[in-house]
Amino acid sequence: MRSNSRPVTSNQTGPNEQLTALVKKHADTDFLKPLSDNSLSAFEYSMAVWRDHGSKPLIIDAGCGVGLSTRRLAAQYPDHFVIGIDQSADRLERAVQWDGKLPENYLTVRADLVDYWRLMLKHAIHPEQHYLLYPNPWPKKDQLIRRWHGHPVFPVIVALGGRIECRSNWEIYIAEFAAAAGQLSGQVTDYQAHIIDSSAALTPFEEKYAASGHGLWRCEIQLSAADKAR
Ligand SMILES: C[S@@+](CC[C@H](N)C(=O)[O-])C[C@H]1O[C@@H](n2cnc3c(N)ncnc32)[C@H](O)[C@@H]1O
Repeated sequence: MRSNSRPVTSNQTGPNEQLTALVKKHADTDFLKPLSDNSLSAFEYSMAVWRDHGSKPLIIDAGCGVGLSTRRLAAQYPDHFVIGIDQSADRLERAVQWDGKLPENYLTVRADLVDYWRLMLKHAIHPEQHYLLYPNPWPKKDQLIRRWHGHPVFPVIVALGGRIECRSNWEIYIAEFAAAAGQLSGQVTDYQAHIIDSSAALTPFEEKYAASGHGLWRCEIQLSAADKAR
């Protein structure tokens, strides 16, 4: 398959020079944004379904889009339960092509991750694995705060612990994500090129970017469970 998606362009030529100070500010400040009723109901519903499935080790697919990666992860990890979360009803409702029987160990829910992550931490729900696959890059210099590692919720993501994996087609996003995760966890955090054929892609965006010949990048970090609960 060939595709012609445009690579990310930015007025940043390297990691944003405000990143360290911004991450520190967010770590030192309580994030008090009110939770939405929709996110709360989605969280409670997903926890009930997870418990009905035996409270298996959890995998979170954050920003799952249409949920193809949620289903693929569920098939790959039958002894886990996978929750895919996205704010877009339109994406979640789109038909996903799947050959054969769908796995039963997954759920997709519509919620704002900014709320869902805080609810997880509040209820001490710690995922074993946590995927952030191709988050919106927000590539303009002044959009740093909209990238997950520049967002006030980032300390919550790190405090949830587990194995976190973030992938992007913008190297600077992943370099920043690794630096911010390292800053908060105290671990040396590296990132690598993610070299795959589009036929081996985990998500639709990964497939599109790989088929367009973009460089792909990934950061993986293994964190201990929350010792920074806020
Ligand atoms: C670029 S798409 C990637 C989708 C999918 N992971 C993939 O690789 O095909 C980013 C997704 O993140 C979702 N998203 C962005 N901000 C979100 C938020 N605050 N809460 C939930 N989902 C969010 C968007 O709706 C969108 O589906």
